[in-house]
Amino acid sequence: MAVGVFDSGIGGLTVLDAVTRRLPDLPLVYLGDNAHAPYGVRTHDDIFNLTCAAVERLWAEGCDLVILACNTASAAALKRMQETWVPKDKRVLGVFVPMIEALTERQWGDNSPPREVAVRHVALFATPATVASRAFQRELAFRAIGVDVEAQPCGGVVDAIEQGDEILAEALVRSHVEALKRRMPHPQAAVLGCTHYPLMESTFQDALGDDVKVYSQANLVAESLADYLIRRPEMQGTGTESKFLTTGDPKAVSNKATQFLRRRITFEAA
Ligand code: DGL
Repeated sequence: MAVGVFDSGIGGLTVLDAVTRRLPDLPLVYLGDNAHAPYGVRTHDDIFNLTCAAVERLWAEGCDLVILACNTASAAALKRMQETWVPKDKRVLGVFVPMIEALTERQWGDNSPPREVAVRHVALFATPATVASRAFQRELAFRAIGVDVEAQPCGGVVDAIEQGDEILAEALVRSHVEALKRRMPHPQAAVLGCTHYPLMESTFQDALGDDVKVYSQANLVAESLADYLIRRPEMQGTGTESKFLTTGDPKAVSNKATQFLRRRITFEAA
């Protein structure tokens, strides 16, 4: 049994770490499509094709269930994959819904009509493709009314992280937060809508100020996966070995992942 975790690059490792803490005995196969990152500046067709290819690679590892630990793929490709492409015996799940359920104080599967919630002014930080998809606003509108969302496309941040340039990533995060605050001076909550951004979470929090609650997805996704596997234990697949795969250069990706996650991670070629 193994579950697949996919991201365009190393950002999904933030989700993988949280899943490992929550489900320590579950083998996980991680695939980073580093050769094609960042996805956030690509067209939706391109993101769909790349994500399908990556998911097929994880199915070949015995992972019948694949988590798209990538908001860009979840926003731009997941709905189309589920509707037109995923076979009946496989599952592909995204990272958007657990975050929105937390923000709107809902349990899994609560399909009651949208209602007012505590939070009213939300800042969304995500890649240009995720912001353009408006998937966050669409999912939110199913569950909550009266929430004002200001979205900031954070161009360059994923690139800087993928290049291992923490100083540039930090400067870009600060300038994106400033740009957002010019349009929404006092957000109550900020959503880090890209799995790379928790790697810069302290910079986001610092630039936003202590009174802004920063929602980051990793623990929410881990919790929702644990819950899903209780309901669907047969989706744990046939793979038994944990591993880290990349379409990029394994040595360079291992070094970057080790730098950002602050523990040794060794990738092999996908
Ligand atoms: N970690 C991906 C996400 O959550 C990054 C997307 C990209 O490659 O631009 O959106």
